[in-house]
Amino acid sequence: MAQTVKGTRDIFGPELRWFQWIEEITRQTMARHGYEEIRTPVLEEIEVFKRSVGESSDIVNKEMYDFIDKGGRHVAMRPENTAGVVRAAIQHKFFETNDPKRLYYIGPMFRYERMQTGRYRQFWQIGAEIFGVATPEADAENLTLLFELLQELGLVKLTLSINSVGTPECRPAFYQALRDFFDKSESEFCADCHRRIQENPLRVLDCKIPTCQAALEGHPVITDFLDEVSLKHHARLKEILTALEIPFEDNPRLVRGLDYYTRTAFEVMSSDLGAQSALLGGGRYDGLVKQLGGPEVPGFGWAIGLDRLAILMQAIHGDAPGKKPILLIPVGESAAIKAMILAKEWRWAGLEIQLETRNVPLKKSLQTANRQDFQLAMILGDSEIEQGVITVKDLTQGTQETMKLDSVVSDLRQSAYR
Ligand code: HAM
Repeated sequence: MAQTVKGTRDIFGPELRWFQWIEEITRQTMARHGYEEIRTPVLEEIEVFKRSVGESSDIVNKEMYDFIDKGGRHVAMRPENTAGVVRAAIQHKFFETNDPKRLYYIGPMFRYERMQTGRYRQFWQIGAEIFGVATPEADAENLTLLFELLQELGLVKLTLSINSVGTPECRPAFYQALRDFFDKSESEFCADCHRRIQENPLRVLDCKIPTCQAALEGHPVITDFLDEVSLKHHARLKEILTALEIPFEDNPRLVRGLDYYTRTAFEVMSSDLGAQSALLGGGRYDGLVKQLGGPEVPGFGWAIGLDRLAILMQAIHGDAPGKKPILLIPVGESAAIKAMILAKEWRWAGLEIQLETRNVPLKKSLQTANRQDFQLAMILGDSEIEQGVITVKDLTQGTQETMKLDSVVSDLRQSAYR
């Protein structure tokens, strides 16, 4: 029997209900902030990621699903979507005017990673990007959107970890300091780190191997190498976040696994997520549009792991909000037709109705309703039709009452069931 491919999974039931609910809240929040949705393809030319996320990053180097298609093109299934959004924005000339552009996306990403709870090879991200504004105010405004969304989702105890990773100009001195530090205890680092220190020393800092992490104790931090403008940008951002009461911690050790960041970089972790504690990450990427062949346009954004968000929501809030439909059970042949007519009418009036069409004894219908966790069943027999009433059974309480057919919709709306 065929099974899902390793690292992928089917999403349904309670987990899917969280996905749907989160997506709905996301769309509302994005609309309130003037962010427009964009849907880009899963497949991109491999260069889109090599030139943005970086050839020396684990994401491109080890984790990418890439292949040569039947036409001989080297393509990749997107491991993230900032690069794809930038590619699209350049292609469709969004940057022809210098106006700011705000975009968001919700969709699946692919990384060939070791599978764990909260870490999959196909996973979902919600992301938001603002282009065309280089100010710390733009960072703060985009973070306000993020925190409003988290608040709407009822996640209020999360702390933002922020850092400034400076600009490409301040990196050479920092890289030299890292190499000097590395040289002192090079035998303690893994083979990959030996490669990284040559290709891109920053990547040594996010090696996941515990012995490398231990050897990194006391490593030089980028914050000590920042230029004047980056320092000012960072200080101003912190000032605004404090004024906006967005809780944050300044973490000079924070670097991100993608190469395109300049100045602000940030993450939000949650202890409720276990080993995969990163719920979201993002930052500023002022060189990316140019790097991908566009004009000089600054950018800032973030992406949340939707799978991880759903795990968190389930852990904190239990099941997603939402209700089962009402099961309408006709008893007898003429009631079956009448029930269909009523179901149509009531659905138009806004009730969620599922109709029993199996023509089985009432007892069996009620057993199914209980097994499937219906809260309400409505029973319509010939005598009820004659009297213009219907029996409404609360399956969780084990109670029932008779309601008038011509007022049942408004009666139900006013009752505890709505
Ligand atoms: P990222 O930190 O690589 O950033 O991913 C963002 C989030 O995606 C992570 O915090 C995590 O929740 C989720 N995620 C990553 N890998 C997996 C996985 N294998 N399974 C489940 N969830 C995962 C980016 O992707 C950047 N594009 C974010 C960004 C947007 N920066 C600027 N704009």
